[in-house]
Amino acid sequence: MKVLLIGSGGREHALAWKLAQSPRLTALFAAPGNPGIAEHATISDVDIDDQAAVVAFCRDTAIDFVVVGPEAPLVAGLADRLRKAGIVTFGPSAAAAQLEGSKGFTKDLCAQYDIPTGAYRRFGNASEAKAYIEAQGAPIVIKADGLAAGKGVTVAMTMGEALAAIDDCFDGAFGAAGAEVVVEAFLSGEEASFFCLCDGRTLLPLATAQDHKRVGDGDTGPNTGGMGAYSPAPVMTPDLVARTMTEIIAPTMRGMAKNGMPFSGVFFAGLMITDKGPELIEYNVRFGDPECQVLMMRLKSDLLPILFACATGTLDTVTAEWHDETALTVVLASKGYPGAYAKGTPIEAIPAERNDAKVFHAGTALKERKLVATGGRVLNATAVGPTAAIAQEKAYQLVDGIVWDNGFCRRDIGYLAIERENP
Ligand code: AMP
Ligand code: GLY
Repeated sequence: MKVLLIGSGGREHALAWKLAQSPRLTALFAAPGNPGIAEHATISDVDIDDQAAVVAFCRDTAIDFVVVGPEAPLVAGLADRLRKAGIVTFGPSAAAAQLEGSKGFTKDLCAQYDIPTGAYRRFGNASEAKAYIEAQGAPIVIKADGLAAGKGVTVAMTMGEALAAIDDCFDGAFGAAGAEVVVEAFLSGEEASFFCLCDGRTLLPLATAQDHKRVGDGDTGPNTGGMGAYSPAPVMTPDLVARTMTEIIAPTMRGMAKNGMPFSGVFFAGLMITDKGPELIEYNVRFGDPECQVLMMRLKSDLLPILFACATGTLDTVTAEWHDETALTVVLASKGYPGAYAKGTPIEAIPAERNDAKVFHAGTALKERKLVATGGRVLNATAVGPTAAIAQEKAYQLVDGIVWDNGFCRRDIGYLAIERENP
């Protein structure tokens, strides 16, 4: 099978690495790709924002299957366009991608189908939103409705912060994404992520993971795209996984189908484990980054037939086997991230892959044949071990073998899982 992978992050490097191991694969192409992905795929310069060009590339290259990594092309309708052209594609339609593209859409679906989530209201102007917040009190959560690169959420501990967040949204801090706002009850508990494939009528649960969103050790400082992750997430007991499937994921699948937009792709559920059980914080409609990196390290099965079955409505014919071990990834970012950072700084050395440890590339590029950092999140040092503590130790050994002066990372990824191992 000839496959085209869309995307250029650490998530796509992990997908490329895993797809490349498939005996069913005859050729792997990637666009836009990165130097890590280039170890496993032929890089294409087709513009992924030009849907007609992507279709033309698939026809010219006789691509059998397209795997879309990031959310932006899904929300823009790339999967619809490819399917219309007769090309099998992994990833939801634009209509179904509203689960990630519009927080209000997801909250309304939860209300319609009784899916546990925080109480909420949607607002199109500041004064009504503020009146509601004043009536509810803090803590309270303010969310720009649309895609805001992970930055559109304010967990306001005080009334002042909450009102300021409303002004930010309606003053255009998140562009069109902030033209509508969701105000939501604050949920307290431990967070976890759950990944499940869906072909529209069948579900295939994958695995649990937990990420670290804050930039600083001890989960302090501003939010980022994710500074590290591990899988499994020990907070997700088998009972909580079963409840997540029956109370959240299955009703979402049925509701989306009933509402005329069957979901095909990966449900990435952000959960809060509250006193009442799992509650939905948000959906993403693609693999997490860096959660995908740890999932791929734990997946024993061949990824390609699983994703193909998902895309062709035959998910009931496949299973996914997992290593019991813990996988843990540490994100190395450019100094200054998530604020301003220098681009083009040299990366002098990356340790070679071992069967239990691998560095995935995210924001890297080749400049005059030398590897440089071009993004905020740049490398993902990923390792597996029999415990979270051992996986962490191996991941940091990998980190310490990386020579990149302008990089930094958190030093405590996985601490909650390790605390659970040593109560
Ligand atoms: P999101 O961009 O929706 O993932 O939100 C970013 C982060 O905000 C989440 O990972 C949570 O830590 C936090 N958050 C979002 N919604 C809530 C909520 N209703 N209660 C408490 N924390 C929340
Ligand atoms: N790591 C969080 C995300 O991919 O959205």
